[in-house]
Amino acid sequence: MLAPVLQPSVEALGRAVDVLRAGGLVAMPTETVYGLGCDASQGEAVARLYAAKGRPSFNPLIAHVADVEMAAREGRWGDAAAKLADAFWPGPLTLVLPVADGAIGAGSVSDLARAGLSTIALRQPDHPVALELISAFGGPLVAPSANPSGRISPTSAAHVAADIGDKMDLILDGGPCRVGLESTIVSLVGERPALLRPGGLDPAQIESVLGGQLLKGGDSVDAPSSPGQLLRHYAPRAALRLDAQDVREGEVLLAFGPSDAKVNLSSVGSLTEAASNLFTMLRELDRTADFIAVAPIPDKGLGLAINDRLRRAAR
Ligand code: TXA
Ligand code: MG
Repeated sequence: MLAPVLQPSVEALGRAVDVLRAGGLVAMPTETVYGLGCDASQGEAVARLYAAKGRPSFNPLIAHVADVEMAAREGRWGDAAAKLADAFWPGPLTLVLPVADGAIGAGSVSDLARAGLSTIALRQPDHPVALELISAFGGPLVAPSANPSGRISPTSAAHVAADIGDKMDLILDGGPCRVGLESTIVSLVGERPALLRPGGLDPAQIESVLGGQLLKGGDSVDAPSSPGQLLRHYAPRAALRLDAQDVREGEVLLAFGPSDAKVNLSSVGSLTEAASNLFTMLRELDRTADFIAVAPIPDKGLGLAINDRLRRAAR
């Protein structure tokens, strides 16, 4: 049965909270992508969530919090975390921290949600519906992107309903996602802060707040790649050819910058606009084409995250 899609209202939020307390699954809008949320502290709810996604259960989840206080109960809150949260929360930045002393056991993020790790990923999303839901619920919600494992992340309630609407209890419709790419993940666990996943926040902005470079892509043992960064992760059915300088027979173009192409990530060459269009346009082309040529995207700023997702989709 398809889950009902509800417009946000006091009543809808109340229903969502009831579903969450009962261990059910609620799809919620965030500024990055839609998340499939459940009570982080209920192992059984988390197990149901993994099953709904068809996700390998060794993949840890992000705990979404309403404020810094809620985050600091779960993760060991140091200077770097405080600085980054101050600068970028609520927003598309996930912080990986050592689990806070006393945050293991009843009421805290379950072991299963952390995939048994002694670290935890935390994020305060910048979407009023998500924030109200988490506040009303009164505790962290774990929420992976609300797509079946290995498929394109959803940036609208309609995507969620179409992809896995039969595997959850309720969908809250908060409109299209403003950022359109998952959060940037930074680990503060090792000696130096490390970029685990490029995403909706430009790493250069993080570096300027930290006053130093982030470790990147296996620079050292301090920067293990995010366990969930499976190679083929954002897979459309169509074949993708990246950095395409031309369009070959049978291909449709996903353009960037000035072009006559019907589908353009950003005709003015804005990486922000391209990020917010990426998943929606990939989906749209995937429905109509077998071969997609993708125009070159500059590998800087948000382009780093866009190219990361495109490379994964192209495998
Ligand atoms: O924007 C986002 O981050 C979205 C919205 C819904 O918040 N969520 C999202 O969740 O992208 P998901 O589950 O699709 O990706 C979470 C990533 C995975 O790659 C996972 O391995 C990583 O976060 N992660 C979670 N906990 C971690 C930890 N303790 N250490 C390292 N990586 C972790
Ligand atoms: Mg995902």
